[in-house]
Amino acid sequence: MPLDKPDFNDRMLALGLARVSEAAAIATVDLIGRGDEKAADQAAVNAMRSQLNKLDIQGVVVIGEGERDEAPMLYIGEAVGTGHGPAVDIALDPLEGTTLTAKDMPNALTVISIGPRGSMLHAPDVYMDKLAIGPGFATDTVTLELSPAERVSALAAAKGCSNREITVCVLDRPRHEVMVDELRATGASIRLITDGDVAGVMHCAEPDVTGIDIYMGSGGAPEGVLAASALKCMGGQIYGQLLFRNDDERDRAAAAGITNLNKVYTRDDMVKGDVIFAATGVTGGSLLPGIKREVGYFTTETVLMRSKTGSVRRMSYRTPKNRAAD
Ligand code: FBP
Repeated sequence: MPLDKPDFNDRMLALGLARVSEAAAIATVDLIGRGDEKAADQAAVNAMRSQLNKLDIQGVVVIGEGERDEAPMLYIGEAVGTGHGPAVDIALDPLEGTTLTAKDMPNALTVISIGPRGSMLHAPDVYMDKLAIGPGFATDTVTLELSPAERVSALAAAKGCSNREITVCVLDRPRHEVMVDELRATGASIRLITDGDVAGVMHCAEPDVTGIDIYMGSGGAPEGVLAASALKCMGGQIYGQLLFRNDDERDRAAAAGITNLNKVYTRDDMVKGDVIFAATGVTGGSLLPGIKREVGYFTTETVLMRSKTGSVRRMSYRTPKNRAAD
């Protein structure tokens, strides 16, 4: 299927995708705030896989839980779906923010995206240096080649505001300390997040709602592809460059078919064709409310988006507890 004429029933598949995302979120409900990351992740994986296998797709997991030998379910290369219907690539993170969930902290999400076969970068499980801004700016308004301080000034100039009116989102990690010092010296405000950089990047697409203008720093490369998929639907730019700490990580990239280890990927390099994307709030945050519990019912909120049309739906789903897995 040529990527310039993608036809993967994206319109019809979108609701099914929301169901997958909702089911994964609901499966974690009894594990929110219970201090057990692994159990929460496993519950989300099981539910996501089971719902995914109900979709009429010939799906292959491209961004998943890990290599086959380290992840028994939703591993990279796993075939999912009924085996009927369009051939598609799937990028997923059944629980983005396992620690956020275990500690009941904001912005844990379930995340999944589908595009035609060959549309998504097979990113190895290494770090990626990321830089993202929202829609409405000229290409290359900010780039990875610029220093962090130069990126703030360039964005402020493009927005017609001062550096002090720019808010940068950064993962709170020792490896970012130097960058944070440099950013502080510009006068910009910094929102430090403890985890969850897919949400971190998505915040840039709605700065008026989230208060975040730009995301920068390193995080997981698989999460980079998921974030690129979200911005492809919402608008905005993301750049990513893989970071390698040793030969094993370089070998992983080679095994994933990557030949140029220094390449700077744009959003459309990471996600080539049109995609659909769904994320459901697990714990409440600035992007989505978390799962709501009432006696006998759960309610979730999902953002469901299609890049072909740029449509963004926010869907509330209320289900009786005993039917939540149907
Ligand atoms: P998990 O949900 O798998 O725990 O990932 C959370 C996360 O914060 C990602 O959003 C981010 O890309 C990555 O971990 C950062 O990795 P590290 O914790 O090694 O800095």
